[in-house]
Amino acid sequence: MLTEQELLATCITTFVAGHETTANLIGTGMLRLLRAPDQIQAMRDRPELTASAPDELLRLEPSVQITTRAATRPITVAGHDFEPGEGVVVLINSANHDERVFPDPDRTNVARYSDPMHPAKKHLGFSLGIHYCLGGPWPCWRWRSCSTCCCAKSVRWGWFRRIHRSSRTWPGSRSIRCCRATGFAV
Ligand code: HEM
Repeated sequence: MLTEQELLATCITTFVAGHETTANLIGTGMLRLLRAPDQIQAMRDRPELTASAPDELLRLEPSVQITTRAATRPITVAGHDFEPGEGVVVLINSANHDERVFPDPDRTNVARYSDPMHPAKKHLGFSLGIHYCLGGPWPCWRWRSCSTCCCAKSVRWGWFRRIHRSSRTWPGSRSIRCCRATGFAV
């Protein structure tokens, strides 16, 4: 049974973890698409791609840039020995652009995760293992609604285009990636 304080802390954590990351992905994802107009067209031609686009955009623009893990027992990972308590800093964005895992890793390809028979390798945008994002499917759903609206023919992209040209695009943060100028950023 949670105490009132624990319950409150859990609510705050969930809200902050869920809101900031999702809002930021909408901004950075939109900017990514602006820089790849053929991908916007691809989603207009094949609306079902809006289902797989969030995964590709999160791979390219992970809202959370860094996570850490500590060894709980002596372990060797990739030829490096770790004693209990020793840790590593994982650079999520770097891992998501690993050319040994993702062919043509810098290219925006909204169809990358669209084929269930040949799925692309899992990205680290929601992390992995025991701390895997609790709200993983939820932001994708939100993003899908947003991107579907923006890709609809009636929506004008002029506003985003102005942002695309703006020099105030990226704020300086080592751990959180966002695009302030879109207004979708925390
Ligand atoms: C695009 C949106 C989101 C991104 C990119 C994201 C990313 C992440 C990442 C990378 C982690 C793992 C951190 C680690 O390894 O230490 C994480 C954990 C977590 N996320 Fe998300 N998240 C998103 C949305 C959400 C939403 C909507 C919720 C809640 C409804 C949420 C709740 C949490 C919680 C509670 C954890 C901690 C899980 C644990 O440590 O066991 N996240 N998220």
